[in-house]
This record gives sequence, structure tokens and C-alpha cells, in this order.
Amino acid sequence: MQEQVLTMLAEAGEEGRRYLSGGYIAKELGITRAAVWKYIEAIRADGGIVRAAPRLGYHLVNLDDLLQAGAVSVATSVVGQSYTYLPRVDSTNSEAKRRVRAGCPEGLVVVADNQKAGRGRMGRGWLSVPGKGLYFSVVLFPKHLPMNKVALLTPLTAVAVCRAIIDMTGLPVALKWPNDLFLKGQKVGGILLEAGGEADSVKYAIIGIGINVNLTQDDIPSDLAQIATSLYLSGGSKVARRKLLQKVLSSLDTYYVQSVNEGPESFLSEYRRLCLTLGRPIKFVWQNHTWSGVAQGINDDGGLIVKLDNQETLVLRSGDVHCL
Ligand code: BTN
Repeated sequence: MQEQVLTMLAEAGEEGRRYLSGGYIAKELGITRAAVWKYIEAIRADGGIVRAAPRLGYHLVNLDDLLQAGAVSVATSVVGQSYTYLPRVDSTNSEAKRRVRAGCPEGLVVVADNQKAGRGRMGRGWLSVPGKGLYFSVVLFPKHLPMNKVALLTPLTAVAVCRAIIDMTGLPVALKWPNDLFLKGQKVGGILLEAGGEADSVKYAIIGIGINVNLTQDDIPSDLAQIATSLYLSGGSKVARRKLLQKVLSSLDTYYVQSVNEGPESFLSEYRRLCLTLGRPIKFVWQNHTWSGVAQGINDDGGLIVKLDNQETLVLRSGDVHCL
């Protein structure tokens, strides 16, 4: 019922109605005004700032930043069909994995306001700043994919997230192969894909997405200051986290469903357009050697085709590359 009260306040906010009276909420939901008050208190305890005005009712002040279940709504067919918000967790990917083991449904989204042990690729950590970033994981059961194709979910997600950010903010976000979201030369987000299953079929895939939304310079530790940015730092205005989350989830749903029906070309051509690595001289570490060459293309598996300085051609399936 708390979720329904929150949904009513959120919808009122969306429609530009500032206050909803306790009596109106009570009548709509078939509960007492005392019960409404109890749920308002619970919403507050979860981080909602609810202003109560005599004779007017309740107004949700921080709707733009609320990520609780009742506040976030998506019209999707897979992604977000089940949704969990946690004020804090170790890592949303780890929580999603626990839920997969416990038998969660496909499309589950686990969102956290704060992660105590957020994880990045290659064993790195991920900076999580409460109230200012988006940290979430999506559980998919992509039975149509063999294990050697599951990595395609990374470029699919990268395109979906990139498109959502561009559509909402107009900021020139681009992709650095394979999973980085870049804005004006600095990292603004990343994707961590973890999957399990047999060789011929993927049982589950967990797609973890982290976006630096409203971080200020003070939120970014000095060792990351040169390489990381946020949508706010780069664009100059605050971005509504709730709206961005909704946009990303519906974009991911659209690209995922389309890829199940039409195959990987449905997103790979867009990935190639958004990928700033292509055509650039790069260097990378492979088999304990540092190699350099030019990034020439993305193959059908999402691998990076590199023409090495010694004129040989190599396809990178994962790893880190540095643009020179
Ligand atoms: C990277 O660029 O190295 C990937 C970063 C992925 C971070 C996200 S935040 C939500 C999800 N939970 C995690 O622990 N990691 C991912």
C-alpha cells in the first residue's frame, strides 16, 4: 500500500498537481486517513521528502530523485517487470546474483542508492555516491544466445544507455569499446556484464549499469578527477535520476526485444556509429605484451578488429584499450 500511496503522489507530481489531500488518497485506495499518514511516514523513512500542508494535503518534494518502486514506472515487456529498490547494498550485481539463485523472474531490476562494494570490470571497484548516481542491475534469461555470444549484451546495453542519455539530455555521450560511456573525453558510466550457463545456452545474464549523474567535482576522488566526469559536471545542469532510470530501462527493453527478434545487427550498426574507438590509434595489453595499432571495426560478435602496427589483424573479444 505504501507503494500505491507513493505512486499517487508521483503521478500527481508528473501532472503538475502540487498537493494531494489525505482524504482523496484515502478514498482512492479504500483506506483511512490515519493509514495514509502511516504510509507517508514510511515513505519519509525511505528518503521521500513529503511536505504536509494544512487543508492542502501532501506534496512529494524530491520526486526527481526518488528511485523507490512506487515512484519508478515503466511500460516494458521484459526489463523492469519486477523491481527492487535498496537504500544500500554491497553491489547490485551481487544482489541480483543472489536473487537469480533464489529464483527471481526475468526482467528483475535491482536499484541501489548506494553501493558499499560496487564493482567495475577487470576486478576494479566502482565509485558510488548516494543520491547522485544511478547504480542498477538487470536480470535477463537470454535463452536464444549461446554462451559465446552473451558478450553481445554489452554493446546492446551500451547503445541503449547512450541513446537514453542523448535523448533526455542532448549531451554528446559516446562509447569507448567495449563498455565505457564517455562524455567530452572522460568516463561518465560503465557496464558490467556477468553471465552463467552451459556452452550452448545462457541461463542468466546480469547487466550492471553505473552512471555518474549529478556528481560534483568534490564527489570524485583526486585519482579519478582527470578521467571521470558526470552528466552534471559536463552538461552544467542537474539531471532527474528517476526520469533517466525510466528512460534507460525502457530503452534497454526496446533494444533487447528487437535483438531477440532481429539479431545483433539491430544494435551493432548503431554501436559502430557511437563508438569513438573506431578509426583511432590504440594500445592495449594482450598476453603480457603491449600492442599498438588502429581500431578498424566491430565484428558480428562485438569484438574489436585491430590492424596492428606490424600489419597483422587481430580481433579483441574483451579487455581495455587506450586511445592514443
Ligand atoms: C566498468 O566500467 O568497469 C563497469 C562499471 C559497472 C558499475 C555498475 S554500478 C551497478 C552495478 N553493480 C556493480 O557492482 N557494478 C555495476
